[in-house]
Amino acid sequence: MAQRIHDLVTPALLVDAARLQRNLDEMARALPRDRLRPHVKAHKCTALAKRQAATGHRAFTCATIREMEGMAVAGLGDDLLLANEVLDCSRLAALRDRARVTVAVDSEETVEVASRDGMGEVLIDVNVGLPRCGCQPDQAGRLADLARSRGLEVRGVMGYEGHVVGLPDRGTREFMTEESMKLLLRAHADVGGPLISAGGTGTFDINTWATEIQAGSYALMDTAYGELDLPFRQAVFVLAAVIHASPTHAVANAGLKAFGMDHGNPSMEDGHQVFIVSDEHVTFLPSEPVRVGDLVRFVPAHIDPTVAYHERMHVVEGDEILETWPVDLRGW
Ligand SMILES: Cc1ncc(COP(=O)(O)O)c(C=O)c1O
Repeated sequence: MAQRIHDLVTPALLVDAARLQRNLDEMARALPRDRLRPHVKAHKCTALAKRQAATGHRAFTCATIREMEGMAVAGLGDDLLLANEVLDCSRLAALRDRARVTVAVDSEETVEVASRDGMGEVLIDVNVGLPRCGCQPDQAGRLADLARSRGLEVRGVMGYEGHVVGLPDRGTREFMTEESMKLLLRAHADVGGPLISAGGTGTFDINTWATEIQAGSYALMDTAYGELDLPFRQAVFVLAAVIHASPTHAVANAGLKAFGMDHGNPSMEDGHQVFIVSDEHVTFLPSEPVRVGDLVRFVPAHIDPTVAYHERMHVVEGDEILETWPVDLRGW
């Protein structure tokens, strides 16, 4: 195994060990134990989830069945929520002997699927303003009744304010989170149950209405969240090598297949400016001369899709590789 970053095949995902730990500690202080249900979709890595568990969080949020399976097999199945609708719960039901499994439902169809496939527990997913899944708030009670009539335990509601979490202005985030949570609390009054699950990294300290916050990006961060007034620091980088240097520009060997680009181009350290990102290349304008073979670091704009492109992440202290973690929750 490579011991120093210079030995790595590039592009490679690097995690700054100290910054990761600081982010985890900061969140565990703000939202201890079951006040946080960390979302694993941002890092897709059971080794990292074990670090989150070590800071006190034993319940986790997942986005895919594959994430649920991987977490259960890794021994992290104390309380797993699939915060997403699925049309076949048989793989989830198969986990029930080794994990506590809860699935989000937002329609008669998804309730029937959960019941048909032998699920035990569900959350009613409520639309709180994000145009994605979730039933209308006034339909939540009816769905909860249906679920109970099918023998399912209804643990409460979830409602992700995803249209709010990334807004740069804190006042706007506060106002819109409150508006969203009014909808969720109204639904919860009809549904009952101990859980009100919501929130993300951008609202982790704003959303005081939810009983648990589903933040995930806080552990590694990205440039989009870096623009907000959050206490978490950038902990993940994509390492690349300079493969061409000319008087006008330089080229590094990471491209569209190494970065999630929906939040824009990655950024660079040391004042270098990203110019063009293509399949296997980033052309950049160096702030000072670089040479072929130099290593450069990019900061991804969106952490979740960036991690999903990589098979492993290298935990580093400076140039030294401390550990290499498989990104083992990829796939569906
Ligand atoms: C259902 C759900 N909950 C919570 C989150 C929070 O994630 P983040 O930490 O990136 O804000 C997400 C992110 O997409 C999500 O889809």
